[in-house]
Amino acid sequence: MSRTIIHLIDPIHPAPAFINEAAAVIQHGGLVAFPTETVYGLGADALDAHAAARIFEAKQRALNDPLIVHVHEPQLDALVDLAALTNTQRRDLQTLTDAFWPGPLTLVLPKRAHVPSVISAGLDTIAVRMPDHPVARALIAAARTPIAAPSANLFGHVSPTTAQHVLDDLDGRFDMLLDGGPTRIGVESTVLSLLHSPPRILRPGGITREMLLALGIPAERAPHSSHSDSPDTDAQLAPGMLTSHYAPRATLEIAPSLAALRKRCAELASHNTRIGILLTSAQITQCPDLHPQFDLGASLDDIARSLYAGLRALDDAAVDVILVTRIPPDGLGDALADRLGRAAGRKVDSDGG
Ligand code: TXA
Ligand code: MG
Repeated sequence: MSRTIIHLIDPIHPAPAFINEAAAVIQHGGLVAFPTETVYGLGADALDAHAAARIFEAKQRALNDPLIVHVHEPQLDALVDLAALTNTQRRDLQTLTDAFWPGPLTLVLPKRAHVPSVISAGLDTIAVRMPDHPVARALIAAARTPIAAPSANLFGHVSPTTAQHVLDDLDGRFDMLLDGGPTRIGVESTVLSLLHSPPRILRPGGITREMLLALGIPAERAPHSSHSDSPDTDAQLAPGMLTSHYAPRATLEIAPSLAALRKRCAELASHNTRIGILLTSAQITQCPDLHPQFDLGASLDDIARSLYAGLRALDDAAVDVILVTRIPPDGLGDALADRLGRAAGRKVDSDGG
């Protein structure tokens, strides 16, 4: 494949002509990158094994890392073996989809046998979510098939929150890009396994543990698995936990405090190491002298929205080391601390610290 067709599309009222064109690409076994509320996805027909296999090829994704399947309504019987659920699981599923769909919550459920096994990397489970983005939902509805879509980045790289990020990683490797502007949430969905008792958070994300607890779902964070990047059994059981995920090219260092970050800057500068610094707006006020700096914004929502763009921007500036201060793992901070830990290439504790 040589050329990717790009359409600028209104994220709130997507033009039906572009949606239909993209849906036809999906129906013919092609790949379409599209915005969701979290990050951009690289989509293919989830019921077409050949099309789904092309996703792995385009991303250079390891075949043992299963994909999320996106639906446009909370209708799961085509994908999920609902009969295999216990009453408790069925009740939790109903509670969760009522509360959080459409939205950044991916549920791991028993897979129906006819769903191609390449989607789930051979597991007998399937990860499903209903995205909260008009473009994503219109595309899935028009394609009349569930759409398998991992984040639209090269495997192991930072997830894309703009169409340019997608092109930077994958231009020419897929058929069509729907450019709906920057994504609203900026970190990936929460992956929750309903097959564990209590339900287990395999990847923290936009729906926080606190939000699940408030609904009476006693979700637990997955105990930090010891697995590395090797395609071993652990990686199959909790595939989203590969430590190499979400990595920039530069080395990321997480300082315990702003004072420690300052000290480290001075140290690195004295060795002529090129540094880039991710700072919150408040930190920038305190440290106007530290450069080059990327403004992450003020709130946790701002940081989530800008974190991946910041990592990519500093990477593009060809720095050797990116510095950031630790984010407390509460609420959305859990997902942010988790991604920072992975980007730093080290294993994180189950509390994301
Ligand atoms: O926000 C998101 O979830 C974005 C947008 C595009 O929807 N998608 C995304 O996909 O982040 P991806 O492939 O980059 O991450 C999917 C995560 C991976 O950690 C994968 O291992 C996990 O979901 N996953 C998929 N199927 C699974 C399964 N059957 N069991 C356990 N984990 C699964
Ligand atoms: Mg990804």
